[in-house]
Amino acid sequence: MKFKIWFTILLSLQIFDFSKSFTVNCNFRMQSLTVIGSVYECLTTNIPLTSGEVITNVTGTHLSGMSSSNVTAVYIQGNYTLTFFPRNFSNFFPNIKAMTVYYTAIETLYGDEFDEFPLFEYIWWNLSPLSTISSRLFENNPKMVQIDFDRNQLERVGYNLFTQFNVTQLRRLCFHTNPCINSATATTQANIINVISTLRQNCTYEAPITTTIRPPLTCSDDTIENFVCDLKDSMTEVQDDLLIKDDEIAKLKADLVAVKNELGETKNELGETRAELTIVQSTLKWVKSELEWLFNHHCMCDIKIF
Ligand SMILES: *[C@@H]1O[C@H](CO)[C@@H](O)[C@H](O)[C@H]1NC(C)=O
Ligand SMILES: *[C@@H]1O[C@H](CO)[C@@H](O)[C@H](O)[C@H]1NC(C)=O
Ligand SMILES: *[C@@H]1O[C@H](CO)[C@@H](O)[C@H](O)[C@H]1NC(C)=O
Ligand SMILES: *[C@@H]1O[C@H](CO)[C@@H](O)[C@H](O)[C@H]1NC(C)=O
Ligand SMILES: *[C@@H]1O[C@H](CO)[C@@H](O)[C@H](O)[C@H]1NC(C)=O
Ligand SMILES: *[C@@H]1O[C@H](CO)[C@@H](O)[C@H](O)[C@H]1NC(C)=O
Repeated sequence: MKFKIWFTILLSLQIFDFSKSFTVNCNFRMQSLTVIGSVYECLTTNIPLTSGEVITNVTGTHLSGMSSSNVTAVYIQGNYTLTFFPRNFSNFFPNIKAMTVYYTAIETLYGDEFDEFPLFEYIWWNLSPLSTISSRLFENNPKMVQIDFDRNQLERVGYNLFTQFNVTQLRRLCFHTNPCINSATATTQANIINVISTLRQNCTYEAPITTTIRPPLTCSDDTIENFVCDLKDSMTEVQDDLLIKDDEIAKLKADLVAVKNELGETKNELGETRAELTIVQSTLKWVKSELEWLFNHHCMCDIKIF
């Protein structure tokens, strides 16, 4: 009886441990990444995370002269089985500034995934079924210079994704080949602003903006605290309304841009028509003079043409 209980406890502890901790096997290598250049990278393949695991050990042989503190990048290459973003990499590699992610099964980035990387400046996440990115993904990553989310299944990108850091320091933004956006890779300031604006027009999802911004309404008794609390709630509501207004303004702006583009096209078409008319006119002039010459020299008739 006693044995059975202990056995059960041991077994469940073991199952618990197994599902929560994970050892990452690294292939350490030097890599050169677009925009940020040389990094010392841990390449890890086929990590089978499914729910809530944290990294509790890292194995692999460092290149000579290198150690964990030199690791500045992680390259995760899945095989479409990885459904949970691995946590606690920074416990082993405190200087991570870049991450490359391929072939995962992750569909949503909830926003806290990169919180543990204060030096983060580069993400290349592609060829995955990723459909949703929370507005607060880069909330703790003020240094972002390159953001690539090409060839995923993006349909919802938080409207405020680009208000969390200084976007003028971005040097590359790439969101091509997604259901809601297929903009070419942007590397100039103007193109980057265009991609952000397209993302806001094409991929905004409204609900999470209000749910992430608005804290739960917590007012209780009829005390002075309650009064302050009410005020806070009202302010939050006003803030939400302003965000929605922002969104509406962005949409109006997009409509104006569309009208402007159409006007541009119409202008071009008018220009083309005008050029064609000029050609027709000169052709007619030529025909007229030819005919006049013919009549004058052969027929001698006094016929007026045109
Ligand atoms: C994909 O990764 C999982 C988890 O490591 C592994 O069990 C499976 O064999 C891998 N499949 C292929 C095709 O490599
Ligand atoms: C971590 O992995 C290394 C290398 O395999 C091993 O020597 C060490 O005992 C492991 N540490 C823990 C806490 O499992
Ligand atoms: C590796 O890190 C150590 C300190 O952690 C540093 O002294 C050394 O210069 C680094 N090596 C390279 C190649 O960056
Ligand atoms: C993982 O990191 C979090 C945040 O730093 C920490 O609270 C937690 O204890 C870590 N877990 C492990 C198993 O190291
Ligand atoms: C944002 O980044 C640009 C380019 O790096 C810089 O010139 C500007 O001063 C920054 N603005 C703020 C508010 O930090
Ligand atoms: C934005 O969405 C519209 C309508 O679905 C689509 O025609 C257009 O190509 C999209 N723009 C980009 C840059 O993907």
